[in-house]
Amino acid sequence: MITVRVPATSANMGPGFDTLGIALKLYARVSMERAERGFLITGADEQYCNEDNLVYIAYRAALARLGVGGDGVRIHIESDIPISRGLGSSAAMYVAGIMGAAALHGRELDKEVLLEITNTLEKHPDNFAAAIYGGFTSALVYDGRPYAVRCPVADGLKLCAFIPEFMTNTEKARAALPKTVLHEDAAYTVAHALALINGLGSGNDETIRRAVSDKLHEPYRKKLIPGFDALKAAAEDVGCVAFYISGSGSTCMSIYRDPAFPEKAQRAVAPLAGKWRVLPLEIDSEGAALVS
Ligand code: HSE
Repeated sequence: MITVRVPATSANMGPGFDTLGIALKLYARVSMERAERGFLITGADEQYCNEDNLVYIAYRAALARLGVGGDGVRIHIESDIPISRGLGSSAAMYVAGIMGAAALHGRELDKEVLLEITNTLEKHPDNFAAAIYGGFTSALVYDGRPYAVRCPVADGLKLCAFIPEFMTNTEKARAALPKTVLHEDAAYTVAHALALINGLGSGNDETIRRAVSDKLHEPYRKKLIPGFDALKAAAEDVGCVAFYISGSGSTCMSIYRDPAFPEKAQRAVAPLAGKWRVLPLEIDSEGAALVS
């Protein structure tokens, strides 16, 4: 029996659509063991305990990629990552399935190959890169293959999630985006993404505040998040450094420095419509790991 631990991730981070991601100390733990035949999935909600389970899909994809014959497998999932909330729960399941397949069949798998296998499952590597490498990552696809770069984050910067009760479907959130963008909006976003990487690395709050603005996805997706403007205003009023939609939503994320921010944010969101769970999160710098 092996156990893989994979962190939650917050992707896009404003101007880094499909590119930037950050790993968080909120985890999924997936235990797996070989069985003679078939598959058994436990721990997850019953609706996910079937052949469409993401851990199982990734497990089979990894076996095929590694050229290993399939026998049976038992999978047990324990996850603190909320599902379909823009916190990388699907990426965590895929990464666990791939790492589990390699570990159970005695294969070494370096992070580059692991990231490459994820690309056969989902084409945007932002969550995967952060989940695999940990920390703050920038990912790109070169010649059809994904690569990740670790970027520094200055001490003292933390994240605080605002998690609503409603889910967001990534496919629908992607369908809400226009097929083409204006050249000036693309240039705006490149400039802001580069400034954000610099701001987070240097710990310059003013740069982060200016840089987090996006024109590629947030203007379209915020309409899918009821109460977005009021929530953002409330978080800014109590002193967040920056605020953005985490992944494709529905969670919104703030970057903060003031240790009292989560408590202030809790009070600020209480009177708002909707029910927002305020969850302060530290940055995970290890990434996915085989823990037993
Ligand atoms: N970059 C992706 C998106 C993250 O925004 O659609 C969700 O998987």
